[in-house]
Amino acid sequence: SPIRLADYRPPAWRVDHIELEFDLGIDASEVRSRLQLARDPAQDAPLRLDGEGLELLAIALDGRPLDEGTYRYRDNVLEVDGARDGSVLETRVRVRPAANTALEGLYLSGSRERGFLLTQCEAEGFRHITFFPDRPDVLAKYTVTLRADRARFPVLLAGGNPDGAGELPDGRHWARFVDPYPKPCYLFALVAGRLERIERDYRTADGRDVRLVIWAEADVIDCCGYAMDALERAMRWDEQAYGRNYDLSVFHVVATHDFNMGAMENKGLNIFNAKYLLADPDTTTDDEYRAVEAVIGHEYFHNWSGNRVTCRDWFQLSLKEGLTVFREQQFSADMNSAPLKRIDDVALLRRAQFPEDAGPLAHPVRPAQYSEINNFYTATVYEKGSELVRMLAGRLGREGFRRGMDLYFARNDGRAATIEDFLTALGEANGLDLSPYLAWYGQAGTPRLVAEGRHDPVRREYALTLRQHTPPTPGQPDKRPLPIPVKLALFDPDGRMLPLQDGATEQVVVLDRAEHTFVFPGIERAPVPSLLRGFSAPVILECAYAPAELALLLTHDTDGFNRWEAAQQLAWRAYAELRDERDRAALTVWCETLAGLFETMKLDAALLADLLTPPGEVELAERETDVDPARIHALHQALQRELATRIGNAALHARYHDLASDAAAALDAASQARRRLRRRVLELLALVDTAAAQALAAAQFDQAATMTDRLAALAVLVRSAAPQADAALAHYRKRYDGNALALDKWFAVQAQLPGEAALARVRALEADPRFTLKNPNRVQALFGTWARGNPSGFHRADGEGYRLLAARLAELDALNPQVAARLATAFNGWQRLEPVRRGQARAAVAGLADRRLSRNLAEIVGNMLKA
Ligand code: ARG
Ligand code: ZN
Repeated sequence: SPIRLADYRPPAWRVDHIELEFDLGIDASEVRSRLQLARDPAQDAPLRLDGEGLELLAIALDGRPLDEGTYRYRDNVLEVDGARDGSVLETRVRVRPAANTALEGLYLSGSRERGFLLTQCEAEGFRHITFFPDRPDVLAKYTVTLRADRARFPVLLAGGNPDGAGELPDGRHWARFVDPYPKPCYLFALVAGRLERIERDYRTADGRDVRLVIWAEADVIDCCGYAMDALERAMRWDEQAYGRNYDLSVFHVVATHDFNMGAMENKGLNIFNAKYLLADPDTTTDDEYRAVEAVIGHEYFHNWSGNRVTCRDWFQLSLKEGLTVFREQQFSADMNSAPLKRIDDVALLRRAQFPEDAGPLAHPVRPAQYSEINNFYTATVYEKGSELVRMLAGRLGREGFRRGMDLYFARNDGRAATIEDFLTALGEANGLDLSPYLAWYGQAGTPRLVAEGRHDPVRREYALTLRQHTPPTPGQPDKRPLPIPVKLALFDPDGRMLPLQDGATEQVVVLDRAEHTFVFPGIERAPVPSLLRGFSAPVILECAYAPAELALLLTHDTDGFNRWEAAQQLAWRAYAELRDERDRAALTVWCETLAGLFETMKLDAALLADLLTPPGEVELAERETDVDPARIHALHQALQRELATRIGNAALHARYHDLASDAAAALDAASQARRRLRRRVLELLALVDTAAAQALAAAQFDQAATMTDRLAALAVLVRSAAPQADAALAHYRKRYDGNALALDKWFAVQAQLPGEAALARVRALEADPRFTLKNPNRVQALFGTWARGNPSGFHRADGEGYRLLAARLAELDALNPQVAARLATAFNGWQRLEPVRRGQARAAVAGLADRRLSRNLAEIVGNMLKA
């Protein structure tokens, strides 16, 4: 039965202090815990602690071993009789790290002989380690002692400050850590094994000396330098942007190849999926470098937005995740190009969050209920949650937002807070009532914003009517209007920005009802409105622009994001014209305008590359019913072929050679931008001069100085089914055989093979000795790329794709329910497929639902069939 937000009660028992002692071993580890309990006098509930899969070896209350009959351990709860306020409960349990394939709690990364032990507790992993009230509003001080064989586990780490270490008999040793900041148990972590380190000294703005240490296995320790630099940048940035300083004497970061998510912000001991930590020019693409910097920032920023101020319950997850994604996005924008970052983020929102919000898994940023919380680490909670914070920040302005954040941190430090606490602090610091924005947190679905402008030449007025409506989502048939901030500017027909009130050229209007008309006086000629500048609200804008008006914005808008947006809108329409075999008005304007920009090359190369990229196949499918992914793929190709044809072979060749390979791997923005455009040019060329493009790609693959260039070339070879593809794949495979992250890319690039050929390739790849269902990154590289990122390859009319995925999901679910449940979201949107595929997909999902599934997968599959 689901857990509901409305049922929240404060904890009946708190734990003020916990002492943990671990005797670590690969097959079995023993955990002793000593809990100092405090009872809520207002409640009269027995002491009940969470514990899953624990082998209870000993239990004592206030120093006395408990008799059987005075405690019960069943259904994942330990109930103890006779506890009082101030009681001390001691337990000793055994857990089995090597057998833990779910990668939740204490588990083994790598092989039994050489791997290391680590923990993952968020959201509810701590109950797999010891008995505890496993909920984020129980904040305790931790003292942790680790003991292990010194030769097998030379490095022993836990969160907090180091508090002694020493030798023990029989080749064993110990180390102790004390965390002075009370924290919820999901932030507990330990790491033990053979790891190498790199270190750096850091002094915070408020004068604290901190030792920064990044840990990794010996073969990859040389790939940690970039992350160390990024960490230092993130720490400085949080001091300057938010006045937030680090608060312990050490900060540890550890890389592992076996991790369910991206990374984890455990207090003082962040643990990273290697994919978001390791970086070197030979194996890391430009996009991946930026992702490392972003995730390093994200986890570090959690130290305040998440750790010092944590969440009252898991319904408030976006309080820390939405806010931290927003902070991470600001950081990345400051370190790189702000408009390019915004384009990337909105593209991700449209690709990942809009489909979620439009399908059977739709849920509010603050869900009202769940049965498995791990299923709610979603694009809605993270990415849409960040958009909500961005709207609030926009409403308050730079200084107002900082004032609000200062008050939020000051007032909630050491507390488990709610989204109301956040809005209250931001509002109070600015004398504003922000409570209308709370509706955004409770209402699922993407609002549609309809804009209609009318110019009155006699009154010299421009009237902009804005209307909103949100389509129903599962369980929420009726929607209310939301406050939608629309940042706008008006352009005259010559492409100049018009002054608005007080001479400013940009203004924010807030639509806070179903419909409203905003009047702009003193406008002589019918203007072209630039709406939702910087994507000021997470909505779908519908505005009946003429193609020429979009071309004007694409050419003249001063908002880099809205230039790109104009290109996207034109591309949508061009696509629809091709699909419906209509006139080619938008198609012509799209091609002409972009060809013009391509020739003059006045733009930043990276922005040009983005302008030349139409919405992807997942986004195109989003607006259709009776979706036929094969047809969408063909039309998507045809659309880009039109563009490439208009630009012309000669211009594409010339530009490709202008941008010709860098001899060395430079990571500066200009070099990255060149690589991004070169890739785009090569892709376009492959559509119109295939054999020549394949020859160029083969040469680029051989000579590449960066993984960006190598992988771009390989992708073109594979996707265009080039005769050179097999040799390149074989070469890559040999070169990177021992490198897990590079091999993941080898699997992923092939999983992108479009159309009918994909299935056989996926089957061949899963038979490869390097494939395993036990490694989340490998599963994501092969099955995630295919099922979630390659619509024409996955959605076969014969249903074979669906059946293969369903079969693997069942196997995977037995090993790792979190990864299985995430992969199953590939079936999202099946209801909108054309009838033949819809029937096949339905049958595959229903077949899964008939099996015995984990709570994780059962919830996803159940919701998928409900709607
Ligand atoms: N808090 C982590 C982050 O956003 C994510 C951890 C989620 N883990 C999970 N098993 N659901 O950085
Ligand atoms: Zn996070």
